[in-house]
Amino acid sequence: EKGGYDTFMEKEINEQPRAVGETLLGRTDESGALVLDELRIPEEALRRVGRITIVACGTAAYAGMVAKYAIERWTRIPVEVALAHEFRYCDPIVDEQTLVVSISQSGETMDTLMAVKHARELGAQTIAICNTHGSTIPRESDAVLYTHAGPEVAVASTKAFLAQITACYVLGLYLAQLRGGSYADDAKAVMAELQEVPAKIEALLGSLDRVREIARFMADTRAVLFLGRQVGFPVAMEGALKLKELAYIHAEGFAAGELKHGPIALIEPGQPVFIVVPGPDTPHGLHGKVVSNIQEIRARGARTLVIAQEGDDAVVPFADEVIRVPRTSPMLQPLLTTVPLQVFALELSTAKGLDVDQPRNLAKSVTVE
Ligand code: M6R
Repeated sequence: EKGGYDTFMEKEINEQPRAVGETLLGRTDESGALVLDELRIPEEALRRVGRITIVACGTAAYAGMVAKYAIERWTRIPVEVALAHEFRYCDPIVDEQTLVVSISQSGETMDTLMAVKHARELGAQTIAICNTHGSTIPRESDAVLYTHAGPEVAVASTKAFLAQITACYVLGLYLAQLRGGSYADDAKAVMAELQEVPAKIEALLGSLDRVREIARFMADTRAVLFLGRQVGFPVAMEGALKLKELAYIHAEGFAAGELKHGPIALIEPGQPVFIVVPGPDTPHGLHGKVVSNIQEIRARGARTLVIAQEGDDAVVPFADEVIRVPRTSPMLQPLLTTVPLQVFALELSTAKGLDVDQPRNLAKSVTVE
């Protein structure tokens, strides 16, 4: 049932082109416009949405963070991301104009379920982004947008994460389409680009031998840092979480801009740091800012493991290793930049002889508070 792979995680990493493709399937008409009849919330109600709160835990919450950047950019609707277990106990500001979007692979995470119930009591409309048909969270929500990643068995989430991000994009683009005008035009263009991503993930998966090699040489590493900016920031945190879960290595993800506000003190000779570099076409000159960050930490002796787009030569002088990902538009990059980090954690865990699919102390779905 592992389809020829040694572990479920490896299988699921390799199923990601399909997970993303299936999650996009059937959600556009012949003209490329989004059709989300399944949402069952009237269009007028969705047009009235004044703010969005995303509730989720762990990896699903990182998908929510990616969604915040994308949905705000495409719709100009304010989006907040709350860890579900915090949301419920902080007297959240939620009303009838609030759309509460939960994200959960299992649909059974107790913290997320309780957050959804609480949001409904407060009068919010609730949409579940979920991978498991008939599970509890979709049943307790007004509407559901299923991710079609297929069953995820490994405790560490991989293909469900990419499918969650994809579903969030679809929802954001749909809301943009409802807004009409230039929002709708932009939505169509992004959707067309999104359709090309599965093939790009496929190509990327075939090019990661060097990442595996790097991981195997790092079995004794005690700490790894991950830096990212904008949508690369949640990717950095996801990379760190994968390494904690799978290889029991202390790992931390930072927003690259925070470096000088504290974390740079951790940099000492030999310290491995992954840097998720935004594409050169990212607005506000963020690419150049992250390249300067790489330069700064390299000057202090860090070992820089740089994830950058094909053709981005600016990173080369400051990188100990360059891991290339195919080009896509800045907002869609997490669907690609996450993949090498998953493979890195998988390989490092394997090199340490650990149980990849069943890491210690963890359960696939956390059904207690
Ligand atoms: O089933 P859910 O998506 O609600 O699960 C949420 C988290 O428990 C889950 O993503 C967890 O962080 C994973 N172990 C990450 O790999």
